[in-house]
Amino acid sequence: MSRPFLLAQLTDSHIGADWGGPVGPELALAAAVDALRTPRHRPDAVVVTGDLAGDGAAEQYAVVREQLQRLEIPFVVLPGNHDDRATMRAAFDLPGGAEDPIHVAVDLGPLRLVALDTTIPGKVDGALPESELQWLEQSLQDAPERPTIIAMHHPPVLTGLSAWDATAIGPVERTVLSRVLSRHRQVLALIAGHLHRALVSTFAGRPTVVMPSTYLQGSLDWSSADFGFVAEPPAFGLHALLDGELVSHVQPVG
Ligand SMILES: [Fe+2]
Ligand SMILES: [Fe+2]
Repeated sequence: MSRPFLLAQLTDSHIGADWGGPVGPELALAAAVDALRTPRHRPDAVVVTGDLAGDGAAEQYAVVREQLQRLEIPFVVLPGNHDDRATMRAAFDLPGGAEDPIHVAVDLGPLRLVALDTTIPGKVDGALPESELQWLEQSLQDAPERPTIIAMHHPPVLTGLSAWDATAIGPVERTVLSRVLSRHRQVLALIAGHLHRALVSTFAGRPTVVMPSTYLQGSLDWSSADFGFVAEPPAFGLHALLDGELVSHVQPVG
């Protein structure tokens, strides 16, 4: 049996943050990378779905870049609400103007990855402005036959937890995104971060997966209106593409 193509997903490393927990974000990210370097997990490419940095400082991106380079495979980074576009763009030598959205459509082996920028500079909330949705439409039109994953920081689904849903992408933008996807059957799944825990849903009929943070996990607390952290293990995602079908694994670290 042939080995599937493996896209690893790291998210919400928050390098430089000091939010408690047994291990700081730097060591936690290093542990996730250590795990990915072992033969049993070793991926073919990796995407980091935002909140790389604690507060967008250049030295925080240098840590992430150094860790990703240890994997010696192609990597894609997209921003979260804790990131700074200009600093992140400079740190990773990304094309475009300093404050432009950080998005990319790239072929990784048999898989096409379209990474969206759902951030609004200076805000926690997610967004998909018309310009970003038009870029997505064009990117999907460019390769209608390629199995494709769409990656984004803010997931396009609601959770039912008010503290999280207060930061969600708005309903009109989600409706337009759904219409775009209805025209592009090659999209196998949407993957996201931001929530700091694993979640599975569907959006526009496609599997939609949120991966845990490599640092701290969000509390699943229906009794609270606040976002809190909980002592659960960090994890990463491994999206496996085999004969055109995708399966997403969640792998705890440590
Ligand atoms: Fe985060
Ligand atoms: Fe976030």
